Amino acid sequence: MDDVDTITTSFLTQIAEAGDTAALEDLRVAALGRKGAVTGLMKTLGQAAPEDRKALGQRFNQAKDKVALALDSRRTELDQSEMLARLGGETIDVTLPARPRPDGRIHPVSQVVEEITAIFADMGFAVAEGPDIEDDFHNFTALNIPPEHPARQMHDTFYLDQEANDEKLVMRTHTSPVQIRHMQSNEPPHRIIAPGRTYRSDSDQTHTPMFHQIEGLAIDRDIHMGHLKGCLVDFARTIFGIEDLPFRFRPSHFPFTEPSAEMDIGCSRVNGELRIGGGDDWLEILGCGMVHPKVLKHAGVDPDVWQGFAFGLGIDRIAMLKYGIADLRSFFDGDVRWLRHYGFDPLDIPTLAAGLAR
Ligand code: DAH
Repeated sequence: MDDVDTITTSFLTQIAEAGDTAALEDLRVAALGRKGAVTGLMKTLGQAAPEDRKALGQRFNQAKDKVALALDSRRTELDQSEMLARLGGETIDVTLPARPRPDGRIHPVSQVVEEITAIFADMGFAVAEGPDIEDDFHNFTALNIPPEHPARQMHDTFYLDQEANDEKLVMRTHTSPVQIRHMQSNEPPHRIIAPGRTYRSDSDQTHTPMFHQIEGLAIDRDIHMGHLKGCLVDFARTIFGIEDLPFRFRPSHFPFTEPSAEMDIGCSRVNGELRIGGGDDWLEILGCGMVHPKVLKHAGVDPDVWQGFAFGLGIDRIAMLKYGIADLRSFFDGDVRWLRHYGFDPLDIPTLAAGLAR
């Protein structure tokens, strides 16, 4: 027996006798580690006579493979028996209470988007989306808000440093540009809603620099103001769950609609608390109107054939009203305790089939 055999046999015996995985790991290092005995054999190769090197190298490699294989199979055996020992020693106390599982909550804004989407889906509206970073054309010009129009100042726009296709880039100030994008890339008739984030440089109890809107657009050959009213009244009654909800349409002005209106719902304010549905006060919930022919033209739609209505409503405001949350800024503080209190059970999201049917 020469060195190679002695070393190999000795390791194989020790491996077979290793009592636990820690002892086995020590053996692995002693044999195959950087300073291990088997590794050391390889290093002697340089001193062997050149004509012996090939045969010796092969023997060393075989020795190494044998040891590695033995380590592997002993490890499998030890893992197995260590697991069995552990399982044998453990008992499960089925009378212990279940461990609390931290489940997430649905944010009131997400919840109200789901509900609004479900209501409009029932009425045949699909969901469309557009980018948060808009160009000047889609956010303003196409919506009949040309340069120097006072509405541009009213929007407190965040401008970006970059431009795209010679257009200024802005954080979209409303979801209305999605109307344009949708009409540009789809054939009429159109029935869409577009929920999303919007941005204005504004901050107080009822304004945050980022907020949420839902845009609506219905374009067909003969859609008129009666459809607009019917659709929005149905929506408001369903979202607030009040069948005889008092409402009114008040004339207003938007550059992208003609005529334009705002929808108010009846409410009362008692000791600073807002109550929907009764009383002698009014609260504005959305802007709306018949889409301006110039807007249709900008979006490539022939206003002599197609007409319809659009509306835009503030999601956060609806959520504040519906769930009685007084400060809009708390929506976006990211306070988990707040979310636990005002958030919704993820399994409770209403679907078309459940919850919202009237
Ligand atoms: N874009 C308007 C705003 O942010 C809301 C709006 C009003 C949207 C009337 C519409 C509309 O589509 O017809 O103030």
